[in-house]
Amino acid sequence: AGTAGIVVAIDGPSGSGKSSAARGAARRLGLRYLDTGAMYRAITWWMMRAGTPVDDADEVAARSGEPDLRVGTDPDLPTITVDGMDVSGPIRSREVTNAVSAVSAVPAIRQRLVAMQRELIGDGGIVVEGRDIGTTVAPDATVKVYLTAHEQERARRRAAEGLGGAKAEVTLTQQELAVRDRLDSTRTTSPLNQAADAIVLDTTELNLNQVIERICALADERAGTP
Ligand code: DC
Repeated sequence: AGTAGIVVAIDGPSGSGKSSAARGAARRLGLRYLDTGAMYRAITWWMMRAGTPVDDADEVAARSGEPDLRVGTDPDLPTITVDGMDVSGPIRSREVTNAVSAVSAVPAIRQRLVAMQRELIGDGGIVVEGRDIGTTVAPDATVKVYLTAHEQERARRRAAEGLGGAKAEVTLTQQELAVRDRLDSTRTTSPLNQAADAIVLDTTELNLNQVIERICALADERAGTP
């Protein structure tokens, strides 16, 4: 037993604290870490830079195989490059954030990225975060956690990450989050969805360390370690 080959799937809406929690848990458990949202963001960044209209699903699909995407899974230094360029910064821009739902709804994009994600997961030993990990990418994951938080708290966290959390900023972020969540939850191909066997963890009242501890405890329990 032990956590060596396990797969920990962490899904949930934007701003639920997935990234910090998943990365922190991976470090504590000595596992690799995969941020699948960063992959959708990187492809979106590439499409925008290539002048592809992101709302044109046919055009996005036609070019889906072009970007050379590479992902590193070291939780201490997760890397993401497209065509050799480090895009870890630019993929967090508001422009990319507001365009990513459209691009990630395109089936050809999902097909390509899900295949890549499964390859990266390989024999396990990894914490994977996203929207469809427990349902589609790794339905046999050892542990499935679904993170949630109240909408206002998610907006507050997102705004605090970017711009110091001014009140007007929180309101705008809340609207943008709501739009993105609706798009991500209602798309046809593997929408954001809670797996039937996922453990729901509401993080509204929890700090990061408490969330990481819960995830690690679940992983240890499922992995059968004492
Ligand atoms: O987790 P994030 O905010 O970085 O994700 C960015 C977008 O990518 C999100 O709005 C929807 C999409 N996404 C997805 O469709 N499937 C995933 N497994 C992860 C992210």
